[in-house]
Amino acid sequence: FNVPTVTNEPVNSYAPGTKERALLEAAIQEARAQEVDIPMYIGGKEIRTEDKGKLTPPHDHQHVLGYYHKGTKTHVNQAIDAALAAKEYWENLAWEQRAAIFLKAAELASTKYRYKLNAATMLGQSKNAYQAEIDAACELTDFLRFNVSYMTEIYAQQPPANSKGIWNRVEQRPLEGFVFALTPFNFTAIAGNLPACVAMMGNVVVWKPADTQIYSAKVLMDIFNEAGLPDGVINLVYVFGPDAGEVIFKHPDFAGIHFTGSTGVFQDIWKTIGQNIHQYKTYPRIVGETGGKDFILAHPSADLAVLNTALVRGAFEYQGQKCSAASRAYVPQSLWSDLRAKMEQDVASFKIGGTEDFGNFINAVIDEKAFDKITSYIERAKNSADAEVIIGGEYDKTKGYFIHPTVILAKTADYETLSEELFGPVLTIYVYEDAKWSETLELVDKTSIYALTGAVISQDRYAIEEATKALRNAAGNFYINDKCTGAVVGQQPFGGARGSGTNDKAGSMINLLRWVSPRTIKETF
Ligand code: NAD
Ligand code: ALA
Repeated sequence: FNVPTVTNEPVNSYAPGTKERALLEAAIQEARAQEVDIPMYIGGKEIRTEDKGKLTPPHDHQHVLGYYHKGTKTHVNQAIDAALAAKEYWENLAWEQRAAIFLKAAELASTKYRYKLNAATMLGQSKNAYQAEIDAACELTDFLRFNVSYMTEIYAQQPPANSKGIWNRVEQRPLEGFVFALTPFNFTAIAGNLPACVAMMGNVVVWKPADTQIYSAKVLMDIFNEAGLPDGVINLVYVFGPDAGEVIFKHPDFAGIHFTGSTGVFQDIWKTIGQNIHQYKTYPRIVGETGGKDFILAHPSADLAVLNTALVRGAFEYQGQKCSAASRAYVPQSLWSDLRAKMEQDVASFKIGGTEDFGNFINAVIDEKAFDKITSYIERAKNSADAEVIIGGEYDKTKGYFIHPTVILAKTADYETLSEELFGPVLTIYVYEDAKWSETLELVDKTSIYALTGAVISQDRYAIEEATKALRNAAGNFYINDKCTGAVVGQQPFGGARGSGTNDKAGSMINLLRWVSPRTIKETF
């Protein structure tokens, strides 16, 4: 087995005057200058309907980027039929051929399509250039390349022993049926990886993206098609509300769901699958990465600069809309006043603005629904006796859905924004008495209903050890002296447990193994 050599895709800086900056600016201008018409893709055919949805940048909601063609239950049925029709050819193709298609997709994403994909992510999902680069160009490419490497290892693994006259082997079969990929708005890389890694293992897929990510989903589909993905292996439909699920979760050939999104949606899906369990040929694989309420816990020995950077970058990059974003922090009294001054200074220097201004740090949140939800929490905090808005708190949706980076100081340990997911640029801080470190460890664990990411900031090795043990189940990705965002594929396998998901670690062998059903063969001579 020749495992392809993989390394992480280098990150471009897009510094003024660089060739990359010019190419990205040109891609943004080109995208802004035209309205695209985005079809569904079923069985390799472009499908257009009369019912069209409008795509606008969250930071400039009066500008029209284009239109997508909405589907119905009929289209979901057609997508399932197309997937099942492609299945025999795809699953019997030598796995090296499948691997080659996804390695080619990685090449395309990181070269020919790099600027187009970043521009689509910047315009459609309001990321700044750096955030788009580490997501669309780099993380997607890394997912594709590393997964091919893990896939090679999976196919190479065989039982370690054979008795005399016996040859044992394990065949990694694709799942019997089709898989549904239901993907979120916040990472183009996740949207692309969810259908791709399932397909890589020989499965066929019906993919439904979030309506706010369709603009970059189309570029992803162009990449897969140009890489040579056969018709029908991944079918992209835009069918919203309960319609897609009503068809998919009742279908006898439903073999699994690869989901990333909110906890409530995943729990409802799980319930529906449970209710329909008698209808399926096989137990469906249920893989979901869901919500988070990620924490940063500072010990009194914490380095103030490290803590400040972890907080402001962890909480506010991509407007706090990373599943990994720090949205609550526990800070000792002895560090609080210096930390507060530093944070105020840093946040005041953040430039707020749209994608086209490369100097900004903060852009708009994804849509009006998110804007209204996040700002309602801010308003409640302004009027609560148990909280105080100490930084930010302003917002404006006239041109785009802009919310200033906001820090809420919680006066009680059970204040609502210390446990509920807002998914926006709002950090809640709870200040604890230095002597109550052990109680604070218990508090953080007890309040970790979600368990995706978390960080401890400390210069005291014993305290690091205590936190690592006490918070063992409070985060699937645990950081020591760093922000809790920015997991790199191949380096920090990513995923959480408790309310944050099935912890099947995106971009890992664990995840890929969920998409095969092994058959053990014993041959006796
Ligand atoms: P979402 O749950 O609103 O949507 C996810 C997908 O489900 C979308 O395609 C959406 O259209 C679809 N969907 C929504 N409601 C549905 C319903 N009732 N029936 C069927 N499908 C439905 O999530 P989002 O807003 O796109 O993404 C943000 C959420 O995703 C946050 O909760 C975040 O924490 C989570 N997330 C988690 C991870 C992780 O690795 N744990 C990564 C990224 C995002
Ligand atoms: N890789 C992304 C992060 O950790 C999901 O923020």
